[in-house]
Formats: sequence, C-alpha cells, structure tokens
Amino acid sequence: MLELRQVSTKYGQIPMLMQVSIKIDQGEAVCMLGANGAGKTTLLKTIIGMVKPVSGEVLFRGQRIDLWPSYKIIRSGIAIVPEREGLFPKLTVENNLLMGAYYEKDKSRIASRLEEVLTIFPRLKERLRQKAGTLSGGERKMLGIARALLADPQVLLMDEPSLGLAPATVNEVFAVIDRIKKEKKIAILLVEQNAQKALSVVERGYVLQKGTIILEGSTKELQENSIVKESYLSATS
Ligand SMILES: Nc1ncnc2c1ncn2[C@@H]1O[C@H](COP(=O)(O)OP(=O)(O)O)[C@@H](O)[C@H]1O
Ligand SMILES: [Mg+2]
Repeated sequence: MLELRQVSTKYGQIPMLMQVSIKIDQGEAVCMLGANGAGKTTLLKTIIGMVKPVSGEVLFRGQRIDLWPSYKIIRSGIAIVPEREGLFPKLTVENNLLMGAYYEKDKSRIASRLEEVLTIFPRLKERLRQKAGTLSGGERKMLGIARALLADPQVLLMDEPSLGLAPATVNEVFAVIDRIKKEKKIAILLVEQNAQKALSVVERGYVLQKGTIILEGSTKELQENSIVKESYLSATS
C-alpha cells in the first residue's frame, strides 16, 4: 500500500531522515515511535510531499509519488491529521469537516460520507454549527481525525494525536483510532511519543531515533524490547 525505500531528507545541509525504509500493507495499523526531534513529523511531511527526499523513493499502491505535488498525493488517497489539527477556527465544525471532502464533487457521496463518519464522532454531531475555535482540545483532535476521514482515504497518517491532551481524553482519542482501524479497513500510520497508547492499537511498529529506524517489530516484540521499555515506555503512562 505505502512504502518508503531508503528515503533520506535534509533541511538545508543538515541530514534529517537517513535511509528510512518502511512498509504498510492495506488495512494495517503501524506506529512510528520516537522522541522529540527524531524526525517523525518530517517523515509524514515526506510522505505527503511537503518535504522532498534527497534520495530514495516513496511508493503508494506501487506507484512512485515522491515527485508529485502534495495536492496530488492527498487526492490520490492519503490523508493526514497534523499535530495541530490545522482546522479553520472561524468556520463551523460542519464546514471544517466538508473541507476534508474538498476533492469529492458528488454531493450525495459527501452527504453519506459525512453521516457515516459522524456515527464514530457523536460529540461532533451535536456541535455541527459550532465554530471549530470554540471546541475543547479533545474535540478539536476528534474533528481533525473526522475531517481526514471525509476524504475517504486509503492511508491515514496521524501526527502525535495524544500530544497536549489530558489522559482521559487521550483514551477517548485512542478508542476512536481503534474503532477506525476495525471499521474502516484503511492503513494507518500512527506517529507517537506515547508508546504505551500507540502499541495498544497497532499490530506492528518502528522506532525512529535521530532520523534513523533503529528497531522494527510486532507490538509484542516492541513491548518486550529493552530500548523501548527504557526510553519509550517508562516516560509515558
Ligand atoms: N523546516 C525545517 N527547517 C529546518 N529544520 C527543521 C525543519 N523542520 C524540522 N526541523 C528539524 O528537524 C528535526 C526533526 O524535526 P521533526 O520531524 O519535527 O521531529 P519530531 O516530529 O520527531 O519531533 C528537528 O531537529 C527540527 O528542529
Ligand atoms: Mg513532530
């Protein structure tokens, strides 16, 4: 479904990602663990074409996409929930959601998609006319995820959905991610520092350290790995 082959990126002269290779199959949920500054956001930006690799390839459904402009990549079926959601605070919840379906021109298809997505987000359904800027942190995160789903993506990228949320809200967000995984059959790449939460919803994962993949394995292998235990599981709850 989605594959990075030996991808390297630079910011100016400074190397960031180094020979990163990952693979995500159809319907699979995979996490990318890593500390602050490891290059997690850079990795997601590289997938959606906002950062161009200096070497290596990004493939989506067997096709090379790393030379495509971002809009074309997004339109082809990859959606992202950015770290700060990227909402339009002055627009209503409903209009923010509809932005996610920007590339869909069939109105009835948009309406049925909206209805379907809202079954997963009852709190948003109650707040469709409310301005996005008035939502709580957890609700904004939900809106960011819901909006990405309105694009009907085959791959969903999520940049640290737990960041800045209270523990109870983090649990709600991860319950939603788990539900999406089970109901939607889309591939998910979940970028997280919260290893415990991330490993509770994925099948497999990678660990990114200073731009390099230092580990990969099943959820169980990562949970039992001493590096993961020491660096990523002890600090989070
Ligand atoms: N646009 C940019 N220009 C220069 N350096 C950047 C830019 N974006 C990120 N960086 C640097 O790249 C490193 C990795 O950043 P990032 O991918 O955001 O890490 P993470 O998401 O894992 O915290 C950091 O040291 C950051 O300062
Ligand atoms: Mg980041």
